[in-house]
Amino acid sequence: MPEVPALRLHGVRKAFGAAVVVHDVSLDIRARATTGLIGPNGAGKTTLFNLVAGVVAPDAGRIEMHGQPLLGLSAAARAARGISRTFQEIRLFPTLTALENVMVACQGNRGERLGTAILRWGIAAADQRRVQARAEELLAAVGLAHLADRLPTELSYGQQKRVGIARALATGQELLLLDEPAAGLDPDAVRDLAALLRRLAGQVGTILLIEHNLELVRELCDEAVFLDAGRVVVAGPPAEVLEDPRVWRAFMGL
Ligand SMILES: Nc1ncnc2c1ncn2[C@@H]1O[C@H](COP(=O)(O)OP(=O)(O)OP(=O)(O)O)[C@@H](O)[C@H]1O
Ligand SMILES: [Mg+2]
Repeated sequence: MPEVPALRLHGVRKAFGAAVVVHDVSLDIRARATTGLIGPNGAGKTTLFNLVAGVVAPDAGRIEMHGQPLLGLSAAARAARGISRTFQEIRLFPTLTALENVMVACQGNRGERLGTAILRWGIAAADQRRVQARAEELLAAVGLAHLADRLPTELSYGQQKRVGIARALATGQELLLLDEPAAGLDPDAVRDLAALLRRLAGQVGTILLIEHNLELVRELCDEAVFLDAGRVVVAGPPAEVLEDPRVWRAFMGL
């Protein structure tokens, strides 16, 4: 029997006004694998994440996770099913420490909408300790245990991105959507990130990764999908997708 994909998109379409950004996308994302989503700027990659996460509604088509329809479920309900994501622009709370940033995400996981002031002063001590222990675990998992009390401005860009990954892990681990985790990192930080993602691949359900660093996709991903102008052009093993002339043309301007 064919394996049920972690994520299935069928005929998904999304337009913003007159601009069709995602055209009739049908795509299976293999469960327990790491898939790289590549494509030029404006191809619709982040929009695809927003459609899966439930922050943008499609005009047409179906989206299923493990065979269950997601459409009609709110973003919060999808998070409760284990869909989590990082943001291209990171989005940390600037006045909270790394640990507190992860704690807020742990709170969200329990369906509570606590403000940051309440996080500090309001919740019961036992609850606070449990949330803190979980957040410490997640920061350690991304290699930042020693920087728990730092503010985002005191962290390097790569470290801030790791806090973002820890926050995503706090909200769900069934389907992790990472939006350009390597963008803006120096080569050492990219190597560290690759090691982290390889480790996470053994621990979380399924990883879908938007990335412009094609070497990273080649190294890390089990599958690759090339999206251009809102359409899936080619999908398959990274070695094949990255050799496709249509991909070269898009990335090298050939
Ligand atoms: N909320 C929105 N309203 C109007 N247009 C939007 C909205 N979100 C995205 N777009 C447009 O949709 C197109 C695809 O954007 P998207 O962010 O999905 O691309 P991307 O593939 O993630 O690009 P990048 O590599 O630059 O991050 C772009 O032209 C963008 O301007
Ligand atoms: Mg994007």
